[in-house]
Amino acid sequence: MFKRLLVTGGAGFIGSSFIRYGLQHSLCEKVVNLDLLTYAANLENVASVATDPRYLFVQGDIRDEALVEKVCVDEGIEAIVHFAAESHVDRSIVNPSLFFDTNVKGTLHLLEVQRRYPFVHFHHISTDEVYGSLSHIGTFNEESPCKPNSPYAASKAASDHAVRAYGHTYGLPYTLSHCTNNYGPCQYGEKLIPRMVEALCDKKPLPLYGNGLNVRDWIFVDDHSAAVWCILEKGKKGEVYDIGGECERNNREIIVQLIEIVAKITSEDPNRLRS
Ligand SMILES: NC(=O)c1ccc[n+]([C@@H]2O[C@H](COP(=O)([O-])OP(=O)(O)OC[C@H]3O[C@@H](n4cnc5c(N)ncnc54)[C@H](O)[C@@H]3O)[C@@H](O)[C@H]2O)c1
Repeated sequence: MFKRLLVTGGAGFIGSSFIRYGLQHSLCEKVVNLDLLTYAANLENVASVATDPRYLFVQGDIRDEALVEKVCVDEGIEAIVHFAAESHVDRSIVNPSLFFDTNVKGTLHLLEVQRRYPFVHFHHISTDEVYGSLSHIGTFNEESPCKPNSPYAASKAASDHAVRAYGHTYGLPYTLSHCTNNYGPCQYGEKLIPRMVEALCDKKPLPLYGNGLNVRDWIFVDDHSAAVWCILEKGKKGEVYDIGGECERNNREIIVQLIEIVAKITSEDPNRLRS
């Protein structure tokens, strides 16, 4: 098991869960959290570990190779776990170049550092959105064809290919995981579930775009984190792992469930919330 990790994007939704989980379960000796603190980051997400002597926060950009290299050398890093990304599909439609810059070029800079320190393991966090849209029946698996539908998904697919190509060409050790949609605490308010919960609590109209029949699989964020820690411990080098919750729902079904939960907590009439 890798004891000294560099986690990129650890002030975001999933990276922070991964860090909290690892420290709570004593799965490592040192975690360095390198995060640029974009709009999506929140240091409150890692406040519970901020004074832990095993934890170090560094504000910085994954595209800053000199900084990444310095952190790796100074902290004796054994594995890089790469969460940092621009992650919101709608924003990728408005500003695709930012997504390719961060998600593809950012990953390339990290891989270049790994090329200079080839004993460092690289775990790449990716998404099942690289496979495209889920039909009403069936799920994706590691053999599914790559068919990204948004600039976000295309930028993640491109970064997956870069990780695989560096591994194959330079013999660098890596693992890669594609996860389905995550839900849980600390998610930035623009994503579907927090956006709907906020609208329900504020008694505002529900901002559902399209017909809401888009099907996604959902997983609790700490289960995703546990799976990544498991891959770090038991995964085979050069292997791709798909992580899912076996909980396929379309957006309408998610909203119906949220209405029932919020109604129960607030003792509101669900029909009133639905209107
Ligand atoms: N949210 C999901 O449902 C989901 C599902 C599958 C995979 N993923 C993947 O998991 C990873 C994390 O997703 P998330 O939802 O936690 O994202 P997020 O947007 O909540 O967090 C991203 C973090 O990356 C940081 N970051 C962005 N650009 C950076 C840069 N140039 N240098 C350093 N840090 C930078 C941000 O400051 C932020 O803290 C992403 O790679 C995403 O593609 C997300």
